[in-house]
Amino acid sequence: MMTDLLFDDAATFPTPLLVLFAVDIATTGRDADALPTLLTTSDALSDAVGEFLTSGEFRAECGETLLLHRPAGLRAERLLIVGLGKVKALCPAELRKAAGTAVRFARKRNLQSAALHFPEDRALSDEHLETLDCLPSARALVEGAVLANYEPDTYRSDRTDHDLQRVTVLAPAQQNSTQEEIRSGFAEGEIIAAAQNFARVLVNEPGNILTPTELGRRAAAMAADVGLSCEVHSTAKLKELGMGAFLAVAQGSAEPPALVVMRYEPEVTLSPDAPVLALVGKGITFDTGGISIKGAEGMHLMKYDMAGAAAMLGAMQAIAALKLPVRVLCIVCSAENMPSSTAYKPGDVLTAMSGKTIEVLNTDAEGRLVLADGLHYAKTLGATHLIDAATLTGACIVALGKLNSGLFSNDEDTCDRFLQAYRAAGEHFWRLPCSDDYKPLIKSSIADIQNTGMDRYGGAITAAMFLKEFAGDTPWVHLDIAGQAWIDDARSYIAKGPSGVAVRSIVEWVRSYTTA
Ligand code: BES
Ligand code: ZN
Ligand code: ZN
Repeated sequence: MMTDLLFDDAATFPTPLLVLFAVDIATTGRDADALPTLLTTSDALSDAVGEFLTSGEFRAECGETLLLHRPAGLRAERLLIVGLGKVKALCPAELRKAAGTAVRFARKRNLQSAALHFPEDRALSDEHLETLDCLPSARALVEGAVLANYEPDTYRSDRTDHDLQRVTVLAPAQQNSTQEEIRSGFAEGEIIAAAQNFARVLVNEPGNILTPTELGRRAAAMAADVGLSCEVHSTAKLKELGMGAFLAVAQGSAEPPALVVMRYEPEVTLSPDAPVLALVGKGITFDTGGISIKGAEGMHLMKYDMAGAAAMLGAMQAIAALKLPVRVLCIVCSAENMPSSTAYKPGDVLTAMSGKTIEVLNTDAEGRLVLADGLHYAKTLGATHLIDAATLTGACIVALGKLNSGLFSNDEDTCDRFLQAYRAAGEHFWRLPCSDDYKPLIKSSIADIQNTGMDRYGGAITAAMFLKEFAGDTPWVHLDIAGQAWIDDARSYIAKGPSGVAVRSIVEWVRSYTTA
């Protein structure tokens, strides 16, 4: 899809679909009915909508739409009004959804292109004025549009191409400084949404196509595209490094593992003591559970058990394209978790790269094993700060449901940066504890630690405690994205299937370390 930005009058712009945004300015308690208001200062546009807005048919609720054909006085064939909800709650996240709603609306009707009118906060009276910052608004608009254009029907023979060819953002003439902000936000949005869609494409691939080797190939191809250095290793290198935990998970499959090591070195020179951030992703391309095999129900979805790796690769793509002045490493630990005569077994004792010994109680707790070696390896490569993303536990879904991902950290500053990052990115995480009080839960009688707790309680926390052992004193954030990496039901603005969750938040977290 092409996206472009024009500083032009929407009333004279020819398009199959012109999209206008509206908010509800009613104050609860005072106005019984909704008071929908258009976010435009153009009289021509307001006149074209006319009485539809006051008819009571449209309340400007979040995601609500109203379509007018052949709007009078405009060159657009259709005018779509999309609700942003209450004015008090107006924020970029609502714009992202609304732009997505508009694109999904256009796709359904097979339209080739659409134009989005940049929302003007100036349209609101002083009493209701909620300032919309131009940069994040422009960014959110483009993100919503590009993310909404993705469909996971890759392998359908009857796939009809409903993709929009072009989305134009039309911003009314502005001061130069404002135009600059809108341009920057627009460019960032394009990069970040493309990166998130890249992650979604990877997550959507079935296990027979996206093997660890293929994940390595796709990572290398992306790296070459954006100019990142990238090495992809397999069994021999894992043995050389002594990655006993990662190797154990891989040994049950005929598919060899892949260890991806990517490096991003910014063009600007940074001081030698500038932070080195490491992004570590769980890349289990299929998780059967191994010898502790999973039930048949829903097992096919375990192809998405590499969503953490995909999020990190997506983030790297964006970081490189945005040219963020921060040093970043990315480690992806990819394997297939299979039961076989060569598979690792419950009761096995493994020696991780760090030297710690691990008793395997359950071979389905494999993600933490590959990450244990990935986190330790990142430290040996000079990482000063660690972040990992993983579809790590069903327990995290039990704890938080599917609207929030789990967030764990051993360091307040690092965690605070992530809290701000996910809010800026418009994603949802919820912090869960991992204080040393929980350490006894993973104490083993035969080895240093065991890979699960003794019961199912607090499973997301025991998994985090396990990883914490390998983060050690290095500031670390752990994201358990099991509940959000795959969306069960299509939403108005996003297809069902792979979500690409965490890409945006990770990019913002990395940005927070910008010093130049
Ligand atoms: N990949 C799963 C976690 C998962 C579950 C991801 C549902 C997405 C949706 C992970 O490897 C796993 O199987 N975890 C076990 C751990 C248990 C054996 C301690 C779990 O959560 O049941
Ligand atoms: Zn598992
Ligand atoms: Zn898994």
